[in-house]
Amino acid sequence: MEQGMEEGFWQSRWQEGRIGFHEGRPNALLEKHFDVWGLEPGAHVFVPLCGKAFDLDWLLAKGLRVSGIEFNRQAVEEVFARLGLTPEVEQSDGLIRFHADGLTLYSGDFFALEASDLGPVDAVYDRAALVAIAPERRQGYADHLAALTGRARQLLVGFNYDQSAMQGPPFSIPEAIIRGLYAEKFDSALLESAPVDGPMAQRVDAQEEIWLLTPLAEGQRT
Ligand SMILES: C[S@@+](CC[C@H](N)C(=O)[O-])C[C@H]1O[C@@H](n2cnc3c(N)ncnc32)[C@H](O)[C@@H]1O
Repeated sequence: MEQGMEEGFWQSRWQEGRIGFHEGRPNALLEKHFDVWGLEPGAHVFVPLCGKAFDLDWLLAKGLRVSGIEFNRQAVEEVFARLGLTPEVEQSDGLIRFHADGLTLYSGDFFALEASDLGPVDAVYDRAALVAIAPERRQGYADHLAALTGRARQLLVGFNYDQSAMQGPPFSIPEAIIRGLYAEKFDSALLESAPVDGPMAQRVDAQEEIWLLTPLAEGQRT
């Protein structure tokens, strides 16, 4: 899918309220495995393709600084509103930057975000981001994420199912795909695999999986 079509696809889903991916509560696997990150309060977590996920509020409540990017401006505004925060809003090279307290969310295209917009990042939290990217853009997504966040440790929450049983998004991201995208720079460990519930469970028999990606030492890198 071309870039413009991709944005159109997601914006119509938001406008039509077809947002079954929005959990309405923090992700259970994040809550359960958050401690493996071993982050200190004040550490900076980047949440690509963040939607209006309650994970953002939950990470902030852990004392972290949180940045994210999402196509849909209304979703971004809703996060600040529900937190009772009035953001400063500025235009920044085709993106709109919303900032208040420890939270900075950009409305716009992930691929237009630059490392200088984010500054140093300690950890990446990908929930339903990689699974939302069209297969032909996946490598570009992983490369751009690496350009933005370097050696930051990543918690990746995605789905694993028989791709012939359902069309994505969300796409199935089995181990081979994760390793293919990240093995050059990261060690990947599956922390938990659990049957999906919610609207997706009615469409396909799938597992929700959480992976920890830890940067390889210089000598281990391929
Ligand atoms: C499956 S949803 C997941 C949202 C969120 N992470 C959650 O768990 O609820 C994917 C989100 O990514 C956004 N998105 C997709 N491609 C994007 C891109 N290139 N740049 C910014 N946002 C994008 C969509 O608008 C959508 O809200």
